[in-house]
Amino acid sequence: MRKKITIVGAGNVGATCAHCLAQKEIGEIVLLDIVEGLAAGKALDLFESSPVSGFDVRFAGTCDYRDTEGSDVVIITSGLPRKPGMSRDELLKANTQIVAEVTKNVIDNSIDPFLIVVSNPLDAMTYVAGKVSELSKNHVMGMAGVLDTARYRSFIAEALNVSVNDISAVLLGGHGDDMVPLPRYTCVAGIPLTELMDEQQIRAIVERTRKGGIEIVNLLKTGSAYYAPAAAAAEMAEAILKDKKRLLPCCAWCDLEYGVGGGFVGVPVILGSEGVERVIELELTEQEKQLFDTSVAHVKELTEQVGTIL
Ligand code: NAI
Ligand code: 2OP
Repeated sequence: MRKKITIVGAGNVGATCAHCLAQKEIGEIVLLDIVEGLAAGKALDLFESSPVSGFDVRFAGTCDYRDTEGSDVVIITSGLPRKPGMSRDELLKANTQIVAEVTKNVIDNSIDPFLIVVSNPLDAMTYVAGKVSELSKNHVMGMAGVLDTARYRSFIAEALNVSVNDISAVLLGGHGDDMVPLPRYTCVAGIPLTELMDEQQIRAIVERTRKGGIEIVNLLKTGSAYYAPAAAAAEMAEAILKDKKRLLPCCAWCDLEYGVGGGFVGVPVILGSEGVERVIELELTEQEKQLFDTSVAHVKELTEQVGTIL
């Protein structure tokens, strides 16, 4: 039977993600948005592109959650994006209400789906989806690390004038300015990055990665990034639906792992048919651990604020 993927929010990230998933041909795609006609229009436009693009996928666009019934994976992109001068955290109140309402509607219509949250502030919104859905923790995750490492890998490839395909990297922490790219675990075709770049160059790339989101917001002026975020969310859905056992940085529930003590935060995980199948624990230096702890503390602060809104 064909797999079913629902994308809630047919805005920039949601619609672009639908296009990325269509190219992968892994299942039928339902786009849902609160704005009448928006999801239906985009779904029809995507369908009409398929004879030319060469993918063979069924699309539906709707405002009605009954059309999402039986979804295997639900990608939640509904919510407000940032404007110049805004931090992701400033979206907390509005997006908590949206993500909570959306999650409830999704859960009322699908049994045990995998939820991939994209809405910001990402780690806190993943917590909202986890709490409202009451799904087991391996079914709930957030997309941030795949995007943040994609940015980091792109900047490294550009600086070294090598293919982006040859850069592999991992990153920890929340999706904010205190995220923790890990140069010690970054390789260029197996060669440690630290052999190919000096400390100052690496530091500049880490800093640009941390500010990667706002760099795009400042250029676009009317919204935030969507091509790379959409591709990243589609890659996570594909890993689950094809049981690929990908090792990807995702926002996942951590208890004893990394000493988080209960919370959703970015860590490397194995993504397969069971969702988040395993958190991979890396040895960290004192400095890396400190940076991670600072990021986790920030995520926990936001999560506590969510508690006062829900
Ligand atoms: P957008 O404004 O283009 O699309 C959001 C869509 O959500 C709109 O079409 C809107 O009508 C819909 N929506 C709002 N409330 C809804 C509800 N209650 N039910 C259903 N649909 C609803 O925004 P964009 O650029 O697609 O970004 C979406 C979210 O993703 C934002 O919160 C943004 O900050 C976040 N984001 C997160 C990234 C990450 O790395 N985790 C990367 C990029 C964006
Ligand atoms: C980004 O990093 C807006 O969180 C989003 O582009």
